[in-house]
Amino acid sequence: IMPSADLVIHSADIMVTMKGHSDSPACKEGMSEIGLIENGAVAVRDGKIVAVGSTEEVLADGWVGPYTVQINAQGKVVTPGFVDPHTHVIYAGSRENELSLKLKGVPYLEILRQGGGIHSTVRSTRLASDAEVKSQTRNRLKTMLSMGTTTAEVKSGYGLTLEEELRMLRLIKELDHEQDLDLVPTFMGAHAVPSGYTEEEFTDYVVEGMLPQVAFKGLAEFCDVFCEPGVFSVQSSERILKKARELNLKLKIHADELESAGGAELGAKMGVTSADHLLQASDQGISALAEQGVIAVLLPATSFNLAKNSYARARTMIEKGVPVAVATDSNPGSSPTESIPFVLTLACLYLRLTPEEAITAATINAAYAVGRAHQVGSLEIGKQGDILVLNVPNLNYLPYHFGNNPVDVVVKNGKIVWR
Ligand code: NIG
Ligand code: FE
Repeated sequence: IMPSADLVIHSADIMVTMKGHSDSPACKEGMSEIGLIENGAVAVRDGKIVAVGSTEEVLADGWVGPYTVQINAQGKVVTPGFVDPHTHVIYAGSRENELSLKLKGVPYLEILRQGGGIHSTVRSTRLASDAEVKSQTRNRLKTMLSMGTTTAEVKSGYGLTLEEELRMLRLIKELDHEQDLDLVPTFMGAHAVPSGYTEEEFTDYVVEGMLPQVAFKGLAEFCDVFCEPGVFSVQSSERILKKARELNLKLKIHADELESAGGAELGAKMGVTSADHLLQASDQGISALAEQGVIAVLLPATSFNLAKNSYARARTMIEKGVPVAVATDSNPGSSPTESIPFVLTLACLYLRLTPEEAITAATINAAYAVGRAHQVGSLEIGKQGDILVLNVPNLNYLPYHFGNNPVDVVVKNGKIVWR
């Protein structure tokens, strides 16, 4: 006798499975292949997906038993849970006081140079207790979950001392266990150069003082660096990424956000998993990413919030064969939002992705960008039961109707965690 499922979602007008990308991230035309099933159903048992198909097939296979929770998704769209592959959500405080400076035209890096920006959040975070940082971060994670994010990468980087960076990574780990989202920890000690250090001195500290401890304690899966003229040069960034690679951390890079300065090229050379931002990436940089199979994690909410009408050249990247993912970049300065649905709207309107490409970018390609494509990012047998029921009648409606939450139900590991 076959066991029944714990949960079955059925009768979805449209079910996006994202199947067919199990070997590598989707690129080129592959980004439009989202594995659509009409009148779709998905069954979960013990937290894992056990059946995916048409409603007739899944019901005929006997997955519904007396104790099965059923969700009727008629008139709705079902997708894999969103993966947000680039966030800085572990911090205390906020920076709405910088809005007036920004409106006067003071550039982002000028605010940083004056001791504001990242430095301001470093101060408020250092002053906050573990409990305070966690409760503020927990609220943000709850908002993310309510908007469909079921897995998120989280970077340290508002500590900037060994002790504080280790504290942030420890709090990420604790939060990972204490709430529903899966968190992927990234060490980003190279987020800004604190006062009292030259760039070279602080780079030495990250390489010799921080990275070995972070790796020894096993608190991070990735290492990231803010590679930008005036923050960490290509040379300093290369030193940090090399050391991280020696210590068996996977790599990411904040590249070419404000200026084109060889960040994408460095990312490709170092074999990073993803290069992120890339607003000003050069043609050679984009080609190098394509050649190395580096994922471009694009952050259109950051472009929107920088308010310079400048977005990454996503169409060029896709044409050249770079797999594209999208993320919120959720942080208190350049992108104070938790919303992947808003990012999907911006991805369509300003990165010029189709709704299909945008969904690919926020699911399977985002899962690859955090090294979790074997577990999440698609609705396939054996993967985690991380599933969204969206209160939209078709795929175009999702990016079209913006500023509201389209999520009807969030299922995490087969359990309803938000509705
Ligand atoms: O990705 N660019 C560097 N770091 C963040 C911003 C962090 C902040 O402003 O607090 C980013 O945009
Ligand atoms: Fe960032």
